Amino acid sequence: MNDGYAVRAEALEKRYGEKRALDGFDLVVREGTVHGLLGPNGAGKTTAVRILSTLIRLDGGRAEVAGLDVTRQAREVRARIGLTGQYAAVDEVLTGRQNLEMFGRLFHLGGRRARARAVELLEQFDLTDAADRGVGKYSGGMRRRLDLAASMILAPAVLFLDEPTTGLDPRSRGEVWESVRALVAGGTTVLLTTQYLEEADKLASRITVIDQGRAIADDTPDGLKNLVGGDRVEVVVAERAELPRAVKVVARVSDGEPETDEDALRVHAPVTDRVNALTEVARTLRDEGVRVEDIGLRRPSLDDVFLRLTGHRTDVPQSKEASA
Ligand SMILES: Nc1ncnc2c1ncn2[C@@H]1O[C@H](COP(=O)(O)OP(=O)(O)OP(=O)(O)O)[C@@H](O)[C@H]1O
Ligand SMILES: [Mg+2]
Repeated sequence: MNDGYAVRAEALEKRYGEKRALDGFDLVVREGTVHGLLGPNGAGKTTAVRILSTLIRLDGGRAEVAGLDVTRQAREVRARIGLTGQYAAVDEVLTGRQNLEMFGRLFHLGGRRARARAVELLEQFDLTDAADRGVGKYSGGMRRRLDLAASMILAPAVLFLDEPTTGLDPRSRGEVWESVRALVAGGTTVLLTTQYLEEADKLASRITVIDQGRAIADDTPDGLKNLVGGDRVEVVVAERAELPRAVKVVARVSDGEPETDEDALRVHAPVTDRVNALTEVARTLRDEGVRVEDIGLRRPSLDDVFLRLTGHRTDVPQSKEASA
């Protein structure tokens, strides 16, 4: 029985020697949704995906995927899932079409069905024009899309995507997001790991935050963003004496109390109407002659969420998120 859940994991444990990669990890994923698994480097995301996709064995706890036990019914689970790993699995020398046909044959489709499925998938992932080019000449985004296509050969009920856009430029990232949306519209459930709050926000209806092998939050994207106060406008002044006036200006456009960091000469506050708030603050600061070093908008990042939830930071650079 899966009761409308594509994944149910309880108290998962995985140890590598002394290291507890998973340490009582819980997760439920509703059927037909995208669920984000958000966490920094080394949090345990790949380990969780590898257990749920039956690639490695758990040391404790229990997990069901598509209503089947990953330990006792591993083979049945495998028939219902697809997996795109953190590192691309496609062959560089072959063309996109040849790659998909090869995967089709690996899944015992037979030559004709493998060819037909390749054509469908190339179309679905917007790769028809590039179908007969060597994958070595694909962009990063095209390669990830081909990877997604390969994991969809058998149209799995549950698809695991492990950091599908890490290292991609913003445009390629957007293309992969489109493909994921199309998959879910077709009825697939997706568990997506990511280090980007923005990515989880764009795609997932629910997000589990993982830290040191444990779920530390499970919420909607809005719930998580509210936790850290949404978008913020941020001003850095040139001198400490300018700070009080900057605080007043920022307070006028913001929807909450400005916070100041005296050492960094910085004031920031939550805003809803991002661009208007920024324009308004910039204009008023100039009109009042406040000397400003820097001004900008900041989206909440995984790092902000982490700081709220755990009191410590991740080592995810801010710029990675900001460029998304
Ligand atoms: N095969 C292994 N042998 C030893 N330690 C491992 C192994 N696989 C993972 N670990 C350790 O377990 C912890 C969790 O690793 P995991 O790969 O699941 O993290 P992750 O969240 O996927 O990180 P990343 O974002 O960097 O991919 C890390 O401390 C990692 O070093
Ligand atoms: Mg990983």
